[in-house]
Amino acid sequence: ALIRREDYVAPAYWIRTVDLTFDLDPAKTLVTSKMKVERNAAVPHGPLRLHGEELNLLRVLINGESVSFRQEGHELIIESAPDADFSLEIRNTCAPEKNSSLSGLYTSGGGFFTQCEAEGFRRITYFLDRPDVMAVYTVTLRADKAKYPVLLSNGNLLETAELDNGRHLAKWHDPFPKPSYLFALVAADLVSREQRIRTRAGRDHLLQVYVRRGDLEKTEHAMNSLIASIVWDEARFGLPLDLERFMVVGVSDFNMGAMENKGLNIFNTSALLASPATATDADFARIESIVAHEYFHNWTGNRVTCRDWFQLSLKEGLTVFRDQEFSMDMAAAPSARAVCRIQDVRALRSVQFPEDSGAMAHPVRPDSYVEINNFYTPTVYEKGSEVVRMYQTLVGRQGFEAGMKLYFERHDGQAVTCDDFAAAIADANPGSALSTRLETFKRWYSQSGTPRVQARGSYDAAAQTYTLTLKQHNPATPGQEHKLPQVIPVTMGLLSREGQVLPLQLQGEAAPVGTERVLVLDQAEQCFVFTGVASEPVPSLLRGFSAPVILDDGLTDAELLVLLQHDADAFNRWEASQRLALNRILQAVRTGETLVLDAAYLDAMRTVLRDPQLDAAFKELALTLPGEAYVAEQLEVVDPQEIHAAVEAAHVQLAAALADDWAAAYEANQVKAGYEPSPVQSGQRALANLALSMLVLHATRNGDAVWPGRAYQRFKDATNMTERLGALSALVNAHAELAEPALQRFHALFKHEALVVDKWFALQARAAEDGGKTFARVKQLLQHPDFTLKNPNRARSLLASLCMFNPAAFHRADAAGYVLWAEQVQLLDGINPQLAGRVARAMDRWTVLAEPYRAAAREAIARVAAKPELSNDVREIVERALASG
Ligand code: ARG
Ligand code: ZN
Repeated sequence: ALIRREDYVAPAYWIRTVDLTFDLDPAKTLVTSKMKVERNAAVPHGPLRLHGEELNLLRVLINGESVSFRQEGHELIIESAPDADFSLEIRNTCAPEKNSSLSGLYTSGGGFFTQCEAEGFRRITYFLDRPDVMAVYTVTLRADKAKYPVLLSNGNLLETAELDNGRHLAKWHDPFPKPSYLFALVAADLVSREQRIRTRAGRDHLLQVYVRRGDLEKTEHAMNSLIASIVWDEARFGLPLDLERFMVVGVSDFNMGAMENKGLNIFNTSALLASPATATDADFARIESIVAHEYFHNWTGNRVTCRDWFQLSLKEGLTVFRDQEFSMDMAAAPSARAVCRIQDVRALRSVQFPEDSGAMAHPVRPDSYVEINNFYTPTVYEKGSEVVRMYQTLVGRQGFEAGMKLYFERHDGQAVTCDDFAAAIADANPGSALSTRLETFKRWYSQSGTPRVQARGSYDAAAQTYTLTLKQHNPATPGQEHKLPQVIPVTMGLLSREGQVLPLQLQGEAAPVGTERVLVLDQAEQCFVFTGVASEPVPSLLRGFSAPVILDDGLTDAELLVLLQHDADAFNRWEASQRLALNRILQAVRTGETLVLDAAYLDAMRTVLRDPQLDAAFKELALTLPGEAYVAEQLEVVDPQEIHAAVEAAHVQLAAALADDWAAAYEANQVKAGYEPSPVQSGQRALANLALSMLVLHATRNGDAVWPGRAYQRFKDATNMTERLGALSALVNAHAELAEPALQRFHALFKHEALVVDKWFALQARAAEDGGKTFARVKQLLQHPDFTLKNPNRARSLLASLCMFNPAAFHRADAAGYVLWAEQVQLLDGINPQLAGRVARAMDRWTVLAEPYRAAAREAIARVAAKPELSNDVREIVERALASG
C-alpha cells in the first residue's frame, strides 16, 4: 500500500517506558516486553494498534490481566485499551537464524545482531514502531555464556549475573527516550579495543570497538576516527558526548554501511575494519567518514529525531553534511579540503543526478512510498546534504552555527520535521538571504529533479560593465509536471583573460565586496551587472559547487583553459578539466566520429601533470576522465557501448600522448615513508596508480612488456593494499595475460580476508569491458565457491559492480545482462528484499537507452514485475520503472 506524507496523524497512544527481556536462542528467541502506555489525549479515542511481523505471539496482558485482541495483517489490535495510563505486557518469539533479510534480530557469524531502522523493531516484538513514539528502554539479555560472552544493548550497563545451565545475563538502561528504530542488541563472541577519554566538558567516557577475535588490530583507525569525531563535534557545534559509554560493533552481514543506535553503533565490517595490508586509502577515508557520520547522528537523529519517515533527510541530509564538513576539517590544508569537495560532488553527480532524472526521482522529502527502505537514497542523503550546505552558504558559517544552536534549544528530545529545521536556521538569521525567501528555498524539499542553470555574460567595453544573465529551468520528473523557480546560491568570481582576479562591484552597491560573492538566483531569470570591469572577464561560477544544479555557462575551451590554470577556486579548476574532456567525449558520441584528443587539451593536461605547485591528489582528479555514468547523464539517448568506446579512446590517447610524463609522475610519486592514510600520501598513491594504469595500457597496446612487468612486480611486492590493488587493477584492465596469475595469487593470499575477497570479485566485475570478456567472467564468478547472495557485501561485489558500475559490460546487444539481472534480483528477493530492491535499481534509467537496449530492458523489467511473489521493495522499484516508460 502507498503511504502518503499528507496522511500523517499522531499516534493514538504513547509508550513511555519499555522493559525488554530476551532469552536468546538462534532458533527461537523469547521476547518479553513490559510497557507503560498512555492514551494521546490530543487525538480521538481509538483502538491500540501495534505493529508486528514474522512473530509468534504468546500472550497479551493489560494491567496484569489477559485482554481480548485480534491480529490483522501486520497489526495486533486491542479495541478496549483503558483510558487511564496502563501497563501492557507482551510475550512473543522470533526466529533469528531464519532471518536472512537482516532486518530485526538476526544471526551472523554465530552471534546475534539487530537492525531496526526503519521498521525492523516490529520483527522483534509488537510495538508502536514509528519514530514519533519515544520511550525509555531497559533491556535484559540472557544467553549461553560460552557462545555469547558479550551481551550489549543501548545506554549504561546496570548489572551482570551468572545463571543456571551455563547462561548469563546483562541488564542495560538507556536514560534517553528514543524511537524503536534506535534500539539495538548484540550477543556474540567478540573482543574490544577500549579507550578512555575526558572531553572538554570534563566528563569521562569509555569508548569501545567490538569485533571478532583476530580483527582487533584492524580497529585502530576506527577508534582514532571516533575520538576525532567527538572532539570535532564539541569544537565546531558545541555538541558533547552525552553517554558514559559509547560502543561500536562490527558485523559481516549488514545491509548498509552502519547504524547509529543510541550508544551502540553497529557497523558493516567494510565500514569499520582497516589495516594497510587489507584496506585501501579510499577505505580508510570511508571508514573515517562513516564512523563520524554515525557518531554525529547522536545529536542529529537521536537527540532530535524524525517525526515520520518522510522527514528522513532531516537527520540524514544534515548528518551527511556534518560528516562532509568533518572530513574537510580533518584534511586541513586548503588543497586537501578541495579534494574532499571534488570527491563528494563527483559522487553526487554520478549517482544522485541519474536518480533525479530516472524512474525513482523523488524530492528530498518524499511525498509517498510503498517501502521506506527504498528511500534511503542518494537524494535523501547526498542531495539532502547539499540542501543543508546551501543554508550555510546563505547565512554564513557563523549564522549556520547559530541556527543549529537554536534548533537544539527548541527541539532537543523531540521528533520533528524538516520545516522545524528550516525555521530554526532562518529564525536565528533574521534578514538573511535565507530568511527573506524561506518559503521559496523550501522548494528544495518538495521538487524533485536537478535544476538547470544557464549563464551568459555580455561585456560592454565602452561602459566597462559586465552583465551576467542567469536563467533556471526545472525539468519535469515523474509525478511533477510543472515546477516553480528555486533558490540557487551561485558563488562566483571574475577573472581577466590573463587570469587575474577582478574585484566585484555590483551596480547599485556602494563598494566592491572583495573578489568572491554569492549571487542568489530565485527567479526564472535574473541579471547581475558588474561595473568597473576593465576588460572582458571570464566568469567562474558555482564555485565549490554552491548548488546541486547542472550549469551551462557556455564557456569556450579558451575560457575553460583560463579557469583551469588560474581560478582561485580549486573546485572550478578541476571542473574545467572535466568539462574539457567531457566536451570532446560528447562531441564524438553525438557525431559518431572517432574521438581525437587535440593538442590544446593534451597540452593542458600535460601542464597540470607537470605543475610542481599542484598536489598529486588534485592532479589525479583532474586527469581522471569523466565516468561513463556522468557522460550518459549529458545525453538524451544513451548508447552505453558508444560512450564506452569514446571514453576508452580518450583513455588510450591520454596514455599515449603523455607517456613520458606518466612515467615521470609515477617515479615522482613513490611513497617511501611508512604507510599513513594521510591526504598527501593518499594523493601520491592515487596519482602513481593512475600513472601506472596509463603506462600499462599504453605499453600493452604497443606490445611492450616493460611496464606490465613492472606492474606485476609492484603487485607482488606491495606492502599496502592501495598499491597492490592499483597494480592489479592496471593489469586486469589492460593486460589479460598477466592479470590471470595476479588474480590467482591475490585470491590465494587473501582467501581468509572476506573484505579483500569482496575486492577481488568487484575488481573483476568492474573491469573495462572488452568484447564481452568481463561479462563472461562475472557469469563464471557467480558459480565461484566463495560467492553467495546471502552476504550483502559479497552479493554487491559482483551484482552491483556489474549492473550499476560497469555499463558497457551490463548493457549488451544480446540482452544477456538484463537476463542475468532479472534472474539475480528474483533470487535475491527470496533472501533479502532490501538488497534486492537496491540491485533492482540498475534499470532506473532504461527509458533513455538507445535500441536495442531499451526494448530488451523493458522486457526484463516486465518479466520481474509479472511475478506474483515479489517483496514490496522490488515491486515498488520495478513498477515505478515500468510507469516511467
Ligand atoms: N541510519 C543509517 C545511516 O545512515 C542507515 C540505516 C539504513 N537502514 C535501512 N533500513 N535502509 O547511518
Ligand atoms: Zn545516517
